[in-house]
Amino acid sequence: MSSLTNRDLLGIADLNPEEIRTVLDLAKDLKNGEKQFNANKTLGLLFYKASTRTRVSFSVAMYQLGGNVIDLNPSRTQVGRGEPIQDTARVLDCYLDILAIRTFAQEDIQKFADYSDIPIINALTDLEHPCQILADLQTIEESFGTLEDITMTYLGDGNNVANSLLLGGVLMGMNIRIATAQGYEPNIDVVKQAQALAKKPEQVIITNDAKQAVENAQVLYTDVWASMGQEEETAQRVPIFQPYQINQSLLDIAEDEAIVLHCLPAYRGKEITEEVMEGKQSRIWDEAENRMHAQKALMACLLGLC
Ligand code: CP
Ligand code: NVA
Repeated sequence: MSSLTNRDLLGIADLNPEEIRTVLDLAKDLKNGEKQFNANKTLGLLFYKASTRTRVSFSVAMYQLGGNVIDLNPSRTQVGRGEPIQDTARVLDCYLDILAIRTFAQEDIQKFADYSDIPIINALTDLEHPCQILADLQTIEESFGTLEDITMTYLGDGNNVANSLLLGGVLMGMNIRIATAQGYEPNIDVVKQAQALAKKPEQVIITNDAKQAVENAQVLYTDVWASMGQEEETAQRVPIFQPYQINQSLLDIAEDEAIVLHCLPAYRGKEITEEVMEGKQSRIWDEAENRMHAQKALMACLLGLC
């Protein structure tokens, strides 16, 4: 049993650096086959938005932990017809051991957490994507052997992924630069929280200058320019974010050994070029694989298995 037993993960800063370290170390052991579990636990998945990686990696992770998965498709569940969250949460609490939710409003997963005792995991909201960031941190550490003092530049929309990267990176001693267009900066409360967590000012840089932001960077990261729920803004955002595209000439400004990450799904030719995505500095496929290892470790910790 660790301090993580029976906790929720609603945002990445719900974990302190030691707890993130516990999850990352276990994820590494699980990936290397040095640890395994045999737990008879049931995970529920309640996803109001599309998902490939998160849904499948959570499912396979729970099967490999020895447990079961129930896909609670909202369109076939009463909550999708308007049953209040507080009622659904209390009922699911009776049947499930752990519940991962992908939805729009952060307040909704907060409400699930308030009305149930089982661990609630944020599998993406408009505000945060903490599970993604655990896998990203694992991938960065695999490349550099450390997270401390690693400089990562996120380019593009200051969205849920950017918010969680900012908090998770700063918690682990990284320097996080966000290069984005004016008006698309990360959530202001998240920026203030990251600044408060930072031990030195250069750990949090928000800028509109893409080229300057990638100088000496060891990790370049991007995500879609319009997230789920913002699809109607896709065309108007293309010229706004074009200067923030990860392409070979931008990558050439970064450190020679820099790696490139993208949470996926990606739009080639928009936020990242085909050349970079398939190039030798891309660690995007390792990053996707690590979703499973990191979430398996997370669930093992929240379920009190480790
Ligand atoms: N990166 C990520 O969360 O992918 P999915 O939307 O496919 O789950
Ligand atoms: N920012 C993206 C991430 C998808 C995994 C979205 O919310 O759609």
